[in-house]
Amino acid sequence: MQKLAIRGAKRLSGEIPLQGAKNSALALLAGCALCSGEVRLKNCPALSDVFAACRILNKLGCKCSYHDHCVSVDARDMNCCAVPEELMREMRSSIVFLGAILGRKGECELSPPGGCELGPRPIDMHLSAMEQMGVRISEEYGGMCCECPGGLHGARIDLGFPSVGATENIMLAAVLAKGETVITNAATEPEITDLGNFLVRCGARIRGQGTPTVVISGVDKLHGCEYSVMPDRIVAATFMSAAAVTGGELDIKGADPRHMRSVISVFQQMNCSVFTYDDRIFISAKKPLCAVNTIRTMPYPGFPTDAQAPVMAALAKAAGTSVMVENIFSNRYRHVDELVRMGADIKTEGKVAVIRGVKKLCGATVRALDLRGGACLVLAALGAQGESRVENLCYIDRGYENIETVLRSVGADIKRIKS
Ligand code: EPU
Repeated sequence: MQKLAIRGAKRLSGEIPLQGAKNSALALLAGCALCSGEVRLKNCPALSDVFAACRILNKLGCKCSYHDHCVSVDARDMNCCAVPEELMREMRSSIVFLGAILGRKGECELSPPGGCELGPRPIDMHLSAMEQMGVRISEEYGGMCCECPGGLHGARIDLGFPSVGATENIMLAAVLAKGETVITNAATEPEITDLGNFLVRCGARIRGQGTPTVVISGVDKLHGCEYSVMPDRIVAATFMSAAAVTGGELDIKGADPRHMRSVISVFQQMNCSVFTYDDRIFISAKKPLCAVNTIRTMPYPGFPTDAQAPVMAALAKAAGTSVMVENIFSNRYRHVDELVRMGADIKTEGKVAVIRGVKKLCGATVRALDLRGGACLVLAALGAQGESRVENLCYIDRGYENIETVLRSVGADIKRIKS
């Protein structure tokens, strides 16, 4: 089990190049299964979840290889429509392959991704949408068998909640379906826009991606293309919090500040100076941090649930009392007990966390229990007096590429211990 050893209380300073977005890359990789031509996806982060998606593509009979942040996928010989259970378990977001495999092959076998560390992760909206598009779903031995004998057809699908994964699955299933699909109350996250733009580049007919109404007109075939994955807005938010919690200054390069308005506004309220220009976000936290108005996690363009834990690390040291309300996932405060072990004063009840800023955090041995909660602990350790160990690095590695190398390059005293 790998861990990080961090000596905190060092101001970070310098430039950080931003990685490509994990959550976009995963949906785009599923989309590659729809293409009858070679796709070259550039700016793909080197993460365990991305490699798991590549393994799924290879299992499906596609030729998929990763080299220096570029994934090449040739799905012309795709000859399998089943995702093995161990790969479904390895990466819960593998459910996004459902729409892609159905779109390409008209049938699909996989196991439901199941509950997760963030709370139950139902897929009822995904399945109901597929049924509306002509898919028959039966459950056998814990697995799901999906067939559409008459082929997939377009449908009008109103989502009860703007689910990111369900919107992606419907878009993927609809691009090669017969007729028109209209998704209302669709998710508007930038990753949805990225998926739509990628599919259009491959020959799909889609409009409205990134708005609540997405319209997809089915085409016969998709071809290959070269495409660059969008920058990771949650990793950018994490580095902003690293600057805040250490009283430092970071220049994040390769970002898209338009995706980050709600996050930037929170750091400004915390008393940080934030400047954006082109693809850069500069944050300076030279003044003492102060508490913020209530932060409510919301679908985009609201404050992202994935940034809740990273931002909490900085709020733990911000003078005054801040309140967070987590509206997206029911079990996303598991990092709080670990933060409290580092001296934070945080109480949670249901969706609400009340954070009373403390003057200092103290180093401790803490354990990551999920990806963003793990990142929060790394940030708290960077801002703490003394030495910390953050265990269960495997969670953090799912979303942050070489986190210790990047943070060391801007002055952090951090090393990976492989034991
Ligand atoms: N939900 C349902 N039924 C469904 C689908 C979703 O009840 O059929 C509920 C979920 O249980 C959750 C809420 O709706 O309470 C939001 O789920 P959504 O489907 O929007 O999320 P997701 O597609 O499972 C993606 C990201 C998450 C991110 C959320 C919200 C990927 C691979 N994952 O998950 O990212 O938190 O959208 O923005 O894109 C992360 O990166 O750490 C992460 C968890």
